[in-house]
Order: sequence, then C-alpha cells, then structure tokens
Amino acid sequence: MIGATDVAHESARGPLHDFRFGDGIAGASELPDLSVDLLLTDPPYNISKAYVCETQVPRRLRTNGSDFIMPKGYFGQWDEEFPQPGEWTRVLIPKVRGWVVIFCAQAQIGEYCNILNAHKLSAVGTMVWHKTNPVPFNHRYKPINAWEAIVIGKRPGTKFNGKTIHNVFECKSPSPQERIHPTQKPLDLIAKFITLFSNKGAVVLDPFAGSATTLIVAANLGRRALGYENDPTHFDAAAMRIRRHVSPLEVHPETSFPSLEKPAEPCNHCPQLTFSW
Ligand SMILES: C[S@@+](CC[C@H](N)C(=O)[O-])C[C@H]1O[C@@H](n2cnc3c(N)ncnc32)[C@H](O)[C@@H]1O
Repeated sequence: MIGATDVAHESARGPLHDFRFGDGIAGASELPDLSVDLLLTDPPYNISKAYVCETQVPRRLRTNGSDFIMPKGYFGQWDEEFPQPGEWTRVLIPKVRGWVVIFCAQAQIGEYCNILNAHKLSAVGTMVWHKTNPVPFNHRYKPINAWEAIVIGKRPGTKFNGKTIHNVFECKSPSPQERIHPTQKPLDLIAKFITLFSNKGAVVLDPFAGSATTLIVAANLGRRALGYENDPTHFDAAAMRIRRHVSPLEVHPETSFPSLEKPAEPCNHCPQLTFSW
C-alpha cells in the first residue's frame, strides 16, 4: 500500500537531490566505499536526558503552522535511541573520500576526533557555530550557551576551498517562523560549510537530514545531495520544504547565502548532472 510518506518520498527526488525515508545508516551502508565527497551531518547527540532539569520551562515551537510545546532539552525519541558515535561512524566513514563535518555536543568533541583518527582521516579540528540569538536558558545560573561544536576531518590530500578563514562562524538560529524541526540548522551556515568543503558536482551525504537543510543548500549550490530521515513526520515536512526551496531544474551554484531561503528560480543554462552512485 502506498501511504502519504511514500508519495512524499517519490516527490523528494530531483536532478541534484535524493531524499529518502528510512534509516540513514542502513541506507547509506549500500554506497560504495569512498564514493562520498562530503559527509555533512548533524546526528542526534543522545544527550536529551543530561540536559533536562527541574528549572527548565517548556518552549513553544511552530511546526507546519501549528504550535506545539516541547520541553527544553528534550528533542524527541530519536535523540534517546540513537546509536553511539562509534557505531554509526564505523559504517559511514568508509564511504567518504573527502571531508567529514559532524555537529556534536561539546562533550563529544574528543570522541569524534578519536574516531576520525582511528579511521585514518586527519582530524583537522573543531569549528564553532556562534549563535548570535541563543535561547537565554538558565541565564540566571550560568553563562548562556551560545555555541555549537562541529568536528571536521578529511582524507589526506583533500583540498580546502577556504583561505584565511577563521573557525568561528557567526550565524543566527532559524526563527520560530522558519523552523519546522527542533534542531534545524541555519541555511547560511550550512552553505558556508558546503562551499568550503566541496566543489560543484560533489556528492554530499546527510544520513540524518531532519528538515533537509543540507540537501536544500547542497542542491542549490550545484552539489549532488543524498539524505535520509527516519521520522515520518519530519520526513514529510522536510520533503515539502525541499519542494519549496529546490528548483526541479537547476539553480545557480553561485546562489548567494541570504537568498537561499527563497524558492529557487529555475535556471536553463546550468548543466544537468546525472544522479547516480
Ligand atoms: C539533529 S536532527 C538534524 C537536523 C538537521 N540538521 C536540520 O537542519 O534540520 C537529526 C535527525 O536525524 C533523524 N534520525 C535519527 N536517527 C536516524 C536514522 N537512523 N536514520 C535517519 N534519520 C535519523 C532524526 O529523526 C532527526 O530528525
């Protein structure tokens, strides 16, 4: 029987993007080794419980136009059940021939760096996303947390597209109006990472796609994006977001960062890339 998710799944493919409903670890395990130029992902941190405390108050988020209340520090069942960093990386890092860019909890930085080294990648270091509009959570008791960690590594010899770039990136979190996912990342930030760590035509993988931020930006910048999401509600919302923001044809890879949230204009003079693995 074809359900709503299957229908959305069918329509979440285009010349430069392939967004699949299902387990990203099992799905991407089918890829040939060394077939991915950039693994850019934001896996569940598995830290919900550690952040829940008595003083937290619920916060209100907007999803698909309707409001819901989510307790602070609890991101959903997916965050509690996710495998440990060593498990999913064991399957997916061998697929990468270029860069690995992983959002993680601050407490996981060392673990992910060790994992990259164990896979014979160079653990290049940690980047910081400085959120310029952090949630003023527990502001009377401790400094407000205004940054997220992103561990990066690469296969030896992989090129870097930056020059004199600092590893601290300032960017606002998506506003409640833009947000369809509790941990949605800013399009501008992801665009900077994709530009720095891949070239046009590169294969970009996000096995834990959430609201599909990585896929939207990658396709709009002329990369070939493969992503997975295993939560049906998030998948359907993200598939709709892709339909609104990725052109069914091609778009200019030079699309400037601020315009990425606008629906893309079809472009007739960019080359069509065949999407195959
Ligand atoms: C931290 S969120 C990613 C948010 C994303 N960066 C964005 O901008 O929206 C992680 C997502 O991974 C999904 N997920 C968890 N385990 C998964 C799995 N095994 N396969 C595919 N998706 C998974 C969760 O449902 C969640 O939506």
